[in-house]
Amino acid sequence: MKKNAIALSIGLAIGLAGNVATAQQQSVEVLHWWTSGSEAGALNVLKANLEKQGVKWNDMPVAGGGGEAAMTALRARVTSGNPPTASQMLGFDILDWGKQGVVADLNALAQKDGWDKVVPPALQKFSKYNGKWIAAPVNVHSTNWVWANQAVLVKAGVTAEPKNWDEFIAAAEKVQKAGFIALAHGGQPWQDATLFDSVAMATGGVDYYRKAFIDFDTKTIASPTTEKVFQRMAQLRKLVDKDFSGRDWNVASGMVIGGKAGFQIMGDWAKGEFVNAKLVPGKDFACFRFPGTQGTVTFNADQFVMFTLKDAGKTAAQQKLAAAIMDPGFQSTFNVAKGSAPARTDVPDTAFDACGKKAIKDLAEASKANTLVGSIGHGHAEPASIKNAFYDVITRHFNGQLDDKKAVAAMVSAAKN
Ligand code: BGC
Repeated sequence: MKKNAIALSIGLAIGLAGNVATAQQQSVEVLHWWTSGSEAGALNVLKANLEKQGVKWNDMPVAGGGGEAAMTALRARVTSGNPPTASQMLGFDILDWGKQGVVADLNALAQKDGWDKVVPPALQKFSKYNGKWIAAPVNVHSTNWVWANQAVLVKAGVTAEPKNWDEFIAAAEKVQKAGFIALAHGGQPWQDATLFDSVAMATGGVDYYRKAFIDFDTKTIASPTTEKVFQRMAQLRKLVDKDFSGRDWNVASGMVIGGKAGFQIMGDWAKGEFVNAKLVPGKDFACFRFPGTQGTVTFNADQFVMFTLKDAGKTAAQQKLAAAIMDPGFQSTFNVAKGSAPARTDVPDTAFDACGKKAIKDLAEASKANTLVGSIGHGHAEPASIKNAFYDVITRHFNGQLDDKKAVAAMVSAAKN
């Protein structure tokens, strides 16, 4: 009996070791642009989860918010026949890759784990190509947020949250007069376009936003509303410091965190930086919807697109990666650190701070009220060809190379791309 038990446990031990050895050979290579402190911290949760399952993580970070540089690197890899296991991706880019026929089919896993029931339709629109799941959505970010340093606001005499455009400009001017930078901003096309999301929504409302930048209705783009949007963009430009050119978004967040600047208009990945710096929402910093956009959400969702791999042995690890991304517990821990809301609607908001709870609530409400729309700045409103053309116009205008009227005309042509 005893002998048998020993033999059995030796057998088990060998079996286990064998399993571990095979598992250790599994690996994934993941391309992403999460290089700021909070982004890398959030991604570590996923790395650790996979490593616990014996899957080695080969990191392929390509710096540059918004992911433009990452997408260039990805194209090079796929074109040379050597795609990564998965790549972070946004909106219409996912569908473009779907069309290329180089992405994996995740339908069996999606069906087994019930993704259809828990991922909101607004995200599924991008996760699927020709009815097949090709990407695993990890979060929902939104861009119409303002982040503020409470101590700076107190010193500047800003006592209440600005509720509309005029109140926001008045508050920002107070901050400027008190000797601070009013608006922390980085002059990079995607950041300028991120401001544009909020200003377009605040100025024209959700119907205008949809008609102009999702349906590309030329009349609506050419309307006086768009001219007003550009006038307001120029007003924001005056609130930015002189060294803004080329500054990374997280450096801009750092200016608000460190009390140099009052406000930053940025997606909620900025909150990741505030929390990473141990600042507390409601005490050290405030989060509120860009004045005039309350009740609407301009969203972008990070998804991991899985590529078809030549080596069938790597597919098992790829499936583990996809399953790990969709794990509800992971989506809670990850999104608490990342500043986003979970991509799954069944993840409780218990672990989230006040801003995170608001993000989850706003998202659910906007989804019900049909005021949830894709971000222009982050490729959820328009395909990449139009997005890049919009970037060009918005940035040239922000840098004073186009006046308001010329910018409107240029947006009309850009929409035809
Ligand atoms: C992504 C975020 C990321 C941000 C800055 C956005 O496009 O959706 O996940 O944190 O860019 O890098």
